[in-house]
Amino acid sequence: MCTKNGCHFVSDRLHNMTINVEELRNDTLGCNNVLHFNNAGSSLMPRPVANALKSFLESEEKIGGYETAAAYAEQLERVYSSGARLLNCSASEIAFLENATRAWQMAFYSIPFSKGDRILTSVAEYGSNVIAYRQLANRTGVEIVHVPNDSTGQLDCNALEDLIDDRVKLIAVSHIPTGGGLVNPVAAIGRITNKAGIPYLLDACQSAGHMPLDVETIGCDFLSLTGRKYLRGPRATGLLYVRQSRLNFMEPVFLDQHAADLVSPTEYVLREDAKKFENWEQHFAGKYGLSVAIDYALDIGLENIRDRIYKLATKLRAELAGSPRITVTDEGAEQCGIVTFISDNQSAAAIKSLMSDQGINVSVSDGSGTLVSFQQRELTAVVRASVHYFNTESEIDRFIKVLNS
Ligand SMILES: Cc1ncc(COP(=O)(O)O)c(C=O)c1O
Repeated sequence: MCTKNGCHFVSDRLHNMTINVEELRNDTLGCNNVLHFNNAGSSLMPRPVANALKSFLESEEKIGGYETAAAYAEQLERVYSSGARLLNCSASEIAFLENATRAWQMAFYSIPFSKGDRILTSVAEYGSNVIAYRQLANRTGVEIVHVPNDSTGQLDCNALEDLIDDRVKLIAVSHIPTGGGLVNPVAAIGRITNKAGIPYLLDACQSAGHMPLDVETIGCDFLSLTGRKYLRGPRATGLLYVRQSRLNFMEPVFLDQHAADLVSPTEYVLREDAKKFENWEQHFAGKYGLSVAIDYALDIGLENIRDRIYKLATKLRAELAGSPRITVTDEGAEQCGIVTFISDNQSAAAIKSLMSDQGINVSVSDGSGTLVSFQQRELTAVVRASVHYFNTESEIDRFIKVLNS
């Protein structure tokens, strides 16, 4: 990535290539310092993303915040076209928000529900989403149903079909849970929701930047994602996708002067595009950084990224399965770059600490993020080692050696 007159453009070396791991590692300062298996927490930013943030902040320091936003207007607007390319939608269907949770909430809380309505969701649903369901249930009397899993541990599409009736007003699913390698069958779910004409909200927080995401193939009406995880963007950035046919009829739960125009003391007019779900005040440096991160992922190619991640994760799971006292806890017919496990003689926290002492980053999923699933499986805490394309086979070997030491 180079910068020229404040504009960014992706250098040719990243175009039309399959993954060149060495080159991508050279683009990632953090690879010199840590063995990073915490990409499902927050990945390492590549240099172009870090440079975008730095240049933006330097400009804010030198000439002022509003003035910098004006000078970078084109780059800031780019997050919408880049987000649209990432998801195969139109730029007017994208809103920029401060994280995936808020993006998800803006869609969820803007849908009108009444007593007796039902929301169908996944067992692997993200904890904050479950809190929102419970809050709504307490306030309005909606019913929440966790659609059972099939024998592989993914959402059972037959069970979902059986649960559909007139009471169901939303189907909301986590594509990939925070605490496991499961990939839910989101396109099959979409075919069912579309046939039934029920709105479909997809939490793609862990899948964005991890694999191709196409809202037409998936058939979702709303999709939320975060910047800092597999997209390798800045923290405190996220996007919300809202399908045009839903946009036309939705009034966001919160409005400000960016989302609507106050045209008289008693009247406001909503804007028409998905920006009506945004705030006027935003993390502008992050917005620029996120657009660079999305372009970076698109240049590498989401199929290439997924294939490389899956290859590494398959190796890691196999090595773990062959390690004494270790049990891999990932479910699903399809498994992604999030690899989780427990040990029968060390706590997840102890393993994280052991790894940290050796410069290896992992995290612990302690159940709050995937409570329903963990309770069903009697899990309390698992080690989460989440790999990205810039990780290497030799890093996996080192990780296993430390684990078994
Ligand atoms: C499945 C899932 N959904 C939502 C979130 C929340 O994302 P954010 O922290 O960007 O709001 C996470 C974060 O770990 C997640 O794993």
